Amino acid sequence: MDGNGRWAEARGEPRTAGHRAGIEPVRMCIREFARRDVRALTLFAFSSENWRRPESEVATLMALFFDALDREVDELHANGVRLRIIGDRRTLSVRLQQRISEAEARTAPNTGLMLQVAVSYGGHWDILEAARNLARKVASGALRPEEIDAAAFSSELQLGGLPDPDLFIRTGGERRISNFLLWNLAYAELHFTDVLWPDFGIAELEAALADFETRQRRFGMVRAPRAAGGRP
Ligand code: IPE
Ligand code: MG
Repeated sequence: MDGNGRWAEARGEPRTAGHRAGIEPVRMCIREFARRDVRALTLFAFSSENWRRPESEVATLMALFFDALDREVDELHANGVRLRIIGDRRTLSVRLQQRISEAEARTAPNTGLMLQVAVSYGGHWDILEAARNLARKVASGALRPEEIDAAAFSSELQLGGLPDPDLFIRTGGERRISNFLLWNLAYAELHFTDVLWPDFGIAELEAALADFETRQRRFGMVRAPRAAGGRP
């Protein structure tokens, strides 16, 4: 979700106004993907590197997460959404960590859209954490190094047992992944749009899905496997 700052600056407003305006597209995406029976949606809200922004911008973003958790969890729960926060939550305030745990526990039994929000997340960090967890298991004798295959490795990642994303959407004009789900995006179809995140509406979402429909997914093979290639 990129482009909040530029959206605000173009209006002569502070960058934080862009972050506020970015909330409505988040609500729209959750609603639309849930309605379309998409299995999982992962939103990149705040990266490990975003801590290097001005203190006041970071504080506003953290306050927005806290308030959004407060305000939105009832509705997410009512719509059967299972919410999980992925990222290094030890870097968040204790207050925010508590609010996250409550929201996760409350929505854990839900079987609708699996919604992941990446906060203080980095793809390198995710892979390193998985490696450290596996190393601990090997050191304790619970696991042999030969048993570390792709399935064992990916089960230690933040997305755990979730299927790999089919479609990656980046707004805001940059054509890069910026340390998002590095392992999991191996075969994702990449969709880039110049639209700034606060302007990402249903039409843009439908354009991204239509773009996805045109892709031929072969996963390194000559033909697409029969079970794959459907809607994300
Ligand atoms: C994305 O918008 C939101 C976060 C990273 C939290 P930006 O804040 O990166 O907006 P630009 O890229 O400066 O326009
Ligand atoms: Mg940006």
